[in-house]
Amino acid sequence: MSEKNHRVSRRQFLNYTLTGVGGFMAAGMLMPMVRFAIDPVLKAGAEQDMVPVCDESELTTEPQRFDFKIDQVDAWYESEEPRSAWIFKSESGDVIALSPVCKHLGCTVNWASDKANPNRFFCPCHYGLYEKNGDNVPNTPPLAPLDVYEHKVEDGKVYLGSAKPKGEA
Ligand code: FES
Repeated sequence: MSEKNHRVSRRQFLNYTLTGVGGFMAAGMLMPMVRFAIDPVLKAGAEQDMVPVCDESELTTEPQRFDFKIDQVDAWYESEEPRSAWIFKSESGDVIALSPVCKHLGCTVNWASDKANPNRFFCPCHYGLYEKNGDNVPNTPPLAPLDVYEHKVEDGKVYLGSAKPKGEA
């Protein structure tokens, strides 16, 4: 092998190495951007397992707050997360479970805690109001109804799953 050939192959080796390192660095920068872009798509498919929350016999037509816990798995970390729901029976006997998370900025709404609105959910943070069925009252800060929990009743127990925008649960 001549000295010239030897030098060329060394240059090629350097080119390959620099290209490889450059590609590795570019991938390192691009991967978080790609993940950030597709993460909501991946999360949208995430479903919450149904968990028992209360006995159906406890329910009345008056919303009551029930606190419960769900198992949450984030990558390798598993934890128990607290959740709450306002649950009641409609006039026709259907179980309705609403998320207490205000759709304005995420405060917790309470049932009938505003004396001027005894039959509505009230958010004390910015005076948000919702009707009993979760619909936001016009001209108050929330712009959407309270989320609705997926639910099922089995052996007299009420189970709740994911809270979803009204109409999707
Ligand atoms: S967070 Fe509920 S009204 Fe603003």
